[in-house]
Amino acid sequence: MSDLDVVILAAGKGTRMNSDIPKVMHSLAGRPMLAHVIATARLLSAHRIVVVYGHGGEAVKDHFNANDIEFVCQEPQLGTGHAVQQALPVLDANKTLVLYGDVPLIGAATLQRLLATEADLALLTMELSDPGGYGRILRDRNKKITSIVEEKDATARQRTIREVNTGLLAADTAGLKRWLTDIRNDNAQGEFYLTDIVAGAVREKVDVATASPDNEFEVLGINSTAQLARMERIFQWDNAQHLMSQGVTLADPARVDVRGTLSCGRDVTIDIGCIFEGNVVLGDHVSLGAHCVIRDSHIGPGSMILPFCHIDGATIGSNCRIGPYARFRPGNHLADDVRVGNFVEVKATQIAEGSKANHLSYLGDSEIGRNVNVGAGTITCNYDGANKHRTIIEDNVFIGSDTQIVAPATIGANSTIGAGSTITKDTPEGELTLSRSKQVTIPGWKRPTKSKPD
Ligand code: UD1
Ligand code: CA
Repeated sequence: MSDLDVVILAAGKGTRMNSDIPKVMHSLAGRPMLAHVIATARLLSAHRIVVVYGHGGEAVKDHFNANDIEFVCQEPQLGTGHAVQQALPVLDANKTLVLYGDVPLIGAATLQRLLATEADLALLTMELSDPGGYGRILRDRNKKITSIVEEKDATARQRTIREVNTGLLAADTAGLKRWLTDIRNDNAQGEFYLTDIVAGAVREKVDVATASPDNEFEVLGINSTAQLARMERIFQWDNAQHLMSQGVTLADPARVDVRGTLSCGRDVTIDIGCIFEGNVVLGDHVSLGAHCVIRDSHIGPGSMILPFCHIDGATIGSNCRIGPYARFRPGNHLADDVRVGNFVEVKATQIAEGSKANHLSYLGDSEIGRNVNVGAGTITCNYDGANKHRTIIEDNVFIGSDTQIVAPATIGANSTIGAGSTITKDTPEGELTLSRSKQVTIPGWKRPTKSKPD
């Protein structure tokens, strides 16, 4: 059994968000802020991860119904100390780490350092030039911590102290249980403060240790949507620095958004305004044009995605050329050297090596062989109003422009479809098939003219 339980406080009302959504469910980099804290807690291989929820809590519970997380309800919310009290009955590891659901960017390395102090009580603190709003750390002449005073309870002199309580702490679980029985709510906010356990520990002559975060942003809390937006930019900037340190060329690190995980090979270049969602893998030498949205996709080495493409759930081979303005709905598999050009929509389609659909087409539920040329304006009519049907286009087919293939249909290998055809049946290999009426000329035909006003 691991010796650590993690308690994540997430019951606060979040009034300043002015939102019906529980604060910790607001999205940061594409995931609820609480998901970031849970992910970090998991890195510590804790025995238990306990989330204290309150306001709108059922939504929180439903979203995270993972079996390594326990939920404890705090109702009503009487303060941070009261919140931890609700979790006490389930805590059974020797050490407890308290995190906040609205302090999402806390890093595992910082927490490891806090835990490494091995003190019975260790606080994560830091010096701020502007400590306003935070609880202040009070130390005696020997620099030993004596207590924490909340800003609202602090004297003017105490408010000049710049060492603040980030709120996150690690404690001996037995001690935490004892110290929490002593706390009272006779303070400016009428709340049971977790911070009051410090005084209890000091009375027991416990040496209170401190550690500081690697980065200030790790301990920033979110109280408003403006702070959330600022945090988003901090997250994205930090992530962009990380990508660049791996050799990725970003046209502008302030204009890239990763809402999930992005892994890049060597010499990847990404132009401005690209958004990555879910799990995206870009192979070596992939280049992305401006304003692409890529979700849950794998793009092979040397492929070039031109601007304004929307690619969802695709596997794209090497040296493909996509876009500009291509739309990939989920389920496409492209082999190597494939081209999908402007204003082409593809869905659940396989395209084999060397094939092209360069302009204005819809290819859905299709299987396209090698070296096929799909002419401009080709449409696979995959839906009959009730069911979807498949279109198969075999190797080396040439489809003339403005062709509709009414599925199910198979276009035989090496065949040609004349432009402007509506294909409703399978077509033979190697032949030219077309389905249009013969061109006629009506001699002497006149265009209608506007009737003259009387
Ligand atoms: C707390 C600290 C303060 C510290 C600051 C850092 C206390 C008394 N004060 O103040 O010293 O500088 O954080 O940001 O602890 N929560 C509950 N149940 C409650 C109240 C709060 O779960 O009844 C949760 C909130 O959802 C939040 C966290 O506890 O995740 C902190 O609550 P908040 O009200 O923001 O604490 P502060 O007043 O900012
Ligand atoms: Ca508060």
